[in-house]
Order: sequence, then structure tokens, then C-alpha cells
Amino acid sequence: MKKILALCLFLTLSCANKSPLVIAHRQAPAYLPEHTLESATLAHGMNPDYLEIDVVMTRDNHLVILHDIHLDTVTNVAKKYSTRKRSDGRYYAIDFTLKEIKKLRVHERSSLKTGKQRYAKRFPKGNSHFQVPSLEEFIELLQGLNTVRKKDIGLYIEYKSPAFHRRNKKDIEKLVLNKLKSYGYNDQNDKVFLQCFDDKSLKRVKYQLKSKLKLVQLIGENSWGESKTDYDKLKTAEGLKEISKYAVGIGPWIHHVLDHKSGGDTGFIKLAHQNNLVVHPYTARADDLPKWASNFDHLLSALEKVGIDGVFTDFPDLARKKY
Ligand code: G3P
Ligand code: CA
Repeated sequence: MKKILALCLFLTLSCANKSPLVIAHRQAPAYLPEHTLESATLAHGMNPDYLEIDVVMTRDNHLVILHDIHLDTVTNVAKKYSTRKRSDGRYYAIDFTLKEIKKLRVHERSSLKTGKQRYAKRFPKGNSHFQVPSLEEFIELLQGLNTVRKKDIGLYIEYKSPAFHRRNKKDIEKLVLNKLKSYGYNDQNDKVFLQCFDDKSLKRVKYQLKSKLKLVQLIGENSWGESKTDYDKLKTAEGLKEISKYAVGIGPWIHHVLDHKSGGDTGFIKLAHQNNLVVHPYTARADDLPKWASNFDHLLSALEKVGIDGVFTDFPDLARKKY
């Protein structure tokens, strides 16, 4: 029975004869600094299927929208709180209260070493005034915009580094589930995906915390040190079969589905689909194309051709135009 239900869900979510989902990765970072309410508002107007966010915890147990457990690549924390770095020289969100984080100014993602922005042609670093949003602010903005614009844009949420949070005596999985529940995201039919790079953590969410939400296993490279998860193992047929027991889909790196050098089909999507897993690769960027792609349209066409079910993109407007 469980297998039949899983197959039904896969058929509903997979894009046979449907266009791939457009997932606004960190909202609209091609145009405004990632993970700000301004970027989310702009992205909503581009009509993606989902707005994607990453969340981490603060010292006083709030969830804030940040890609990293650190604050220093996207805010002026080093200037504002110069004495608050750890011995590794980094500033951690978990060492600050929400009130303190709210006093920071968010800027375009920049290199720690050089201070230069990661993508030179994106929003000028330091211009205007942006803040780190709380999860509550973000969801209320999304749901409010859905109401007034008569849309049903979903939430695609990633909780970061559960093992790091646990070492710091924080239970990020529980907090995320409770917060989502309080905003009506509680069931597999709700318009939300919950994603994580850590397989043990996702299994805890499914089996111990009994979440009914649609879970997505993110897949990286072991060399990234993203978590203790063995991604080489997860990428095998056996690994994918195991994932299909607790998740509805996978979020692989774009080069796992399109060969790094040629852009050809790696066969990975077929293997995932054979295990009833939808595939949402990350991240399609018009200003950071794979070497083989002549332009962004070429990349999007290649992704569609190999059968993706959705794509994380920094350019939701261009992906929406295409799909
Ligand atoms: O969540 C999908 C994608 O965002 C994973 O990569 O590092 O941008 O969170 P990252
Ligand atoms: Ca993410």
C-alpha cells in the first residue's frame, strides 16, 4: 500500500508532459541581494512555482533566512560587532540574537578574502538598505502576496547544517517543523518541500518526528564537506532506492545530471525516476554557465531534454519565460 501511495505521489509531482517547476533559488538574487524580503517580493512577481529559502538558528532560537551558518559574507557583521568572532575568525548567526541580527545591513554576497562581490554584475554591494528576515516575516510576505496576487506560489525550504546546530544544543529540525505547522504547512498536499543535505537528519524528520511534508534529499559532493552524508553512495541505484523510502525527490548538483564537459545526459535522472524520485537540480545561473552552454536558453533546453522535474535558478524570470 505504501509503495502504491509513493508511486501516486511521484506521478503527481513528476513532469511527464508537464513543464519543469521554476524554483526561485534564494528568491531573485540575480537582481537583488539574496534572501531579503525585497528579493522575495521581486521573485514573487516573476511567478515561479516556489520561492526557495535556507534557514539557520539564532542564539535566542529564532529561524532566520540565511544561506550560511555564518553572517560575514552577506552582512556588515565584522564592522558592527567586531569583537564577536569565534577563534576561526568567523561570525556565526547562532551567537547572535534576532534583535542583534536585525541591526545588520545585508549586502550582495562577497568574498571574505577580497571583499569583492561574488557576481560582479549583480546588485552593487552596499547600495540601499536590506535586512536579514526571520522565517515568520518571510512566510507572512509569501502568503500575503499569494492572497493579493491570487497566486499559490509554494515554499521550498532548506534547513542548514543540523549536525552543527545539534553540537550547539539546538534542534533545528523540530523548530522548523513547528514553525511550518503554525503557518499551515503540515501535510504532503501542502505547497511546501523541505530539503536538507544531511540524510540522517531527513530520516529523523520522517521516522522520528513523523513529518508528512514532502522531503527532498539534496546531493552534493563528498569533497564539499557539507555534511557527513556519503553522496557517492546516495548517487548509486541502491542509494536512490534508500532515499525513496523517506523522500519524494532529490536535489542534485546540475553537473550530476548534465556532464560537466559535454553537457550530455549522465543517465542520473532516469535512475532517479526508476526509483520514483522527482529531480530538481541546482543551480541554473545565466551569469555562471557551464563551459559547454552557449547561453542560458541552451542550458535550460538541455535540462528539459534530460527530463528534470524542476530547477533551482537565480533567474526565475528567464526560466519562467522558457518553461
Ligand atoms: O537547495 C538547493 C540548493 O540551494 C542547494 O545549494 O548551497 O544554494 O543551498 P545551496
Ligand atoms: Ca538551498
